[in-house]
Amino acid sequence: MKQYFKVDEWRIIEEGFNPHFNKVAESVFSLGNGRMGGRANFEEAYSGETLQGNYVAGVYYPDKTRVGWWKNGYPEYFAKVLNAANWIGIDISLNGEQLDLAKCKVLNFRRELNMKEGYLKRNFRAVTVSGKEVEVESIRFNSLVDDETGAISYSIRPINFGGYIKLTPFIDGDVVNKDANYDEKFWDEVSKHTWSDGGVLQMRTKKTGFEVATGMKYHISIDGEPEHIEAEPVIREKYIGTEIRMEIKQGQRVTICKYAANLSSQNHPADELMALTQALLDSVCHKGFDTMLAEQAIAWAEKWKQNDIIIEGDAAAQQGIRFNIFQLNQTYTGEDDRLNIGPKGFTGEKYGGSTYWDTEAYCVPFYLATAEQKVSRNLLLYRYKQLGKAIENAKLLGFKDGAALYPMVTMDGTECHNEWEITFEEIHRNGAIAYAIFNYIRYTGDEDYLADYGLEVLIAISRFWSQRVNWSAEREKYVMLGVTGPNEYENNVNNNWYTNTIAVWCLKYTLEVIEKVKASDLTKYSELKYRIDFNEDTETARFKDIISKMYFPYDANLQIYLQQDNYLDKEQTLVKDLPATERPLVQKWSWDRILRSPFIKQADVLQGLYFFEDEYDTDTIRRNYDFYEPRTVHESSLSPCVHSIIAAKLGDIERAYQFYLRTSRLDIDDYNNDTEDGCHITSMAGTWMSVVQGFGGMRVKDGMLSFDPLLPVEWKSLEFQIGFRGTLLSVKVTGEGVSIKNASSQDITVKLHGKDVLIKANAE
Ligand code: BGC
Repeated sequence: MKQYFKVDEWRIIEEGFNPHFNKVAESVFSLGNGRMGGRANFEEAYSGETLQGNYVAGVYYPDKTRVGWWKNGYPEYFAKVLNAANWIGIDISLNGEQLDLAKCKVLNFRRELNMKEGYLKRNFRAVTVSGKEVEVESIRFNSLVDDETGAISYSIRPINFGGYIKLTPFIDGDVVNKDANYDEKFWDEVSKHTWSDGGVLQMRTKKTGFEVATGMKYHISIDGEPEHIEAEPVIREKYIGTEIRMEIKQGQRVTICKYAANLSSQNHPADELMALTQALLDSVCHKGFDTMLAEQAIAWAEKWKQNDIIIEGDAAAQQGIRFNIFQLNQTYTGEDDRLNIGPKGFTGEKYGGSTYWDTEAYCVPFYLATAEQKVSRNLLLYRYKQLGKAIENAKLLGFKDGAALYPMVTMDGTECHNEWEITFEEIHRNGAIAYAIFNYIRYTGDEDYLADYGLEVLIAISRFWSQRVNWSAEREKYVMLGVTGPNEYENNVNNNWYTNTIAVWCLKYTLEVIEKVKASDLTKYSELKYRIDFNEDTETARFKDIISKMYFPYDANLQIYLQQDNYLDKEQTLVKDLPATERPLVQKWSWDRILRSPFIKQADVLQGLYFFEDEYDTDTIRRNYDFYEPRTVHESSLSPCVHSIIAAKLGDIERAYQFYLRTSRLDIDDYNNDTEDGCHITSMAGTWMSVVQGFGGMRVKDGMLSFDPLLPVEWKSLEFQIGFRGTLLSVKVTGEGVSIKNASSQDITVKLHGKDVLIKANAE
């Protein structure tokens, strides 16, 4: 654990310039607004270690998969979120010498991410090779209000010299993806246009044909007074810039406010992009930087009202949770059901920006409680709209009759993972998609969703499970062979307990929903049956048979569920006996060694016990936790949060706290040595769950919220906000007890430590 950034309740602060840590800082300080986002690269040139990243939501490229020997069923391509045109760039030349921090002596360097108001600020002094000293301050944000725009205010002041300064704000579309499979460039230029104070560059993606116009417009001022300076355009392929030359006296401050816009053909007609970008730039430029920044603060204050978690007495824990909430809100706003949440959001390329089971298993609960209902509904609709492709995907693998296998990795519904051995067989993702429907209905009570969309998805998923199992004559049970469970450190195993469990649960839930929809809207049910050719009698009979005869690996001696057949054949060593120098295993051990070892990457059996806790008594959960946790290396960011919630449920508040710290400060402290690739956005929702479901003990049962809070000793108090069926509750836990405020106009009864409590509208 590194503790590189300063602890502060509302800000992430970096003091001092540390080039070795720059890529980590670029990830942590990333900015986004749901539509576009990017890493915290510098505006001025930087020839040191950096990972450049600007992304436009939903714009991707199908990069041909790289494999050794091709086999039937491999996905054709691995989708990549595209590194898009760099809109933040401002080259600085000081009497002909380029400002580049990699070549300067850097003093008083400070970067600060203000999470309360949603902007990034950077200050430094730099002394160039020839001895020129300048002072710089930049403030940048991606606007939540005008969500296709971003703005930068960049000031520079010569400290020990006067003379010519040249500023070149630019848009550079000649960018590459570091993770390109064949070192290809993914963008072609369509057109470009510059004018006296800006320009627009329009690019088109190869294969997918998305067009994105990226434009800029700027204002210059000297010592606060607007200046009009003639600029000269610089134009080359995939690049537009304008050179602004001026003579500056020693001590004068020149400020450039650069406004940028990114408009995509997903949202506007391609042939209007240029004009629309120009019009949008005119409008934000007219608004001005200060007004935009003030609006940004108001928009973030609105978000924090529904989202904030306040931890008193532990600034590191406070900073951690706010960072997670901030990043989640930067990544996904729920306005558009074509978008989803990539594991790295807008903070890096890894995982290709695609949708994983992370969304359903981890993110849906966060958005259910902290955003309007339509946000989580849109996440569900995203999968509903891709049902056709999930059926196609299953067909390609030999399934039939409307069975659906949702992809493990996708942009548009097509499977597009890059790693056959692991990802292909992680069919458990189908279960998470069904579970999210259950979770959504349980939380919102929006049962109409089932008749309109949910049941169709559930039947298709259940059809898949019913074809994926096979009858074992030897065991006289149904078995599920050749799968990978959530623990990716075991591949191609038989009878992964979690997968068998969630499959059976899906079948049961589908039967339950069939009855519900039949009772609530028989006409819709009949229409659906007809449309998808569902033979209720035979198909439900098969579902029931599997439910009653499924095999679940269990060890009677230890009284635990076995992660998969023969798990106990492995040499049973524990994580505590692993030398620190051998961790993380994924970086230090061969894959062969990992697969043979008992070590578990992330919650697997425990993921199932977490999802279906009501079906197991506390002793069972404890025995499994005590057995599996010591074997778990938590090398997936999705792991500590589930362990934290279970530890809290079992009353082990200290362990729960340790896991919480690890999950919430995973990126800030670069726990897994991989934050430089980007932040672990989807697991941030898990961090939220570990506070609200873990320490807050929040559950929803029978349409009612319940709380069973516990407070770590390190904390004076914990307060979290929950939106539930039209109410907005603020739950505060202190050493003395629990108080709940209801800021809505609707009364609500909740369970607190098992007892019903009425919380009056607008009252405590
Ligand atoms: C985890 C998967 C997860 C993926 C994307 C992997 O490391 O093992 O469960 O879906 O990352 O976050």
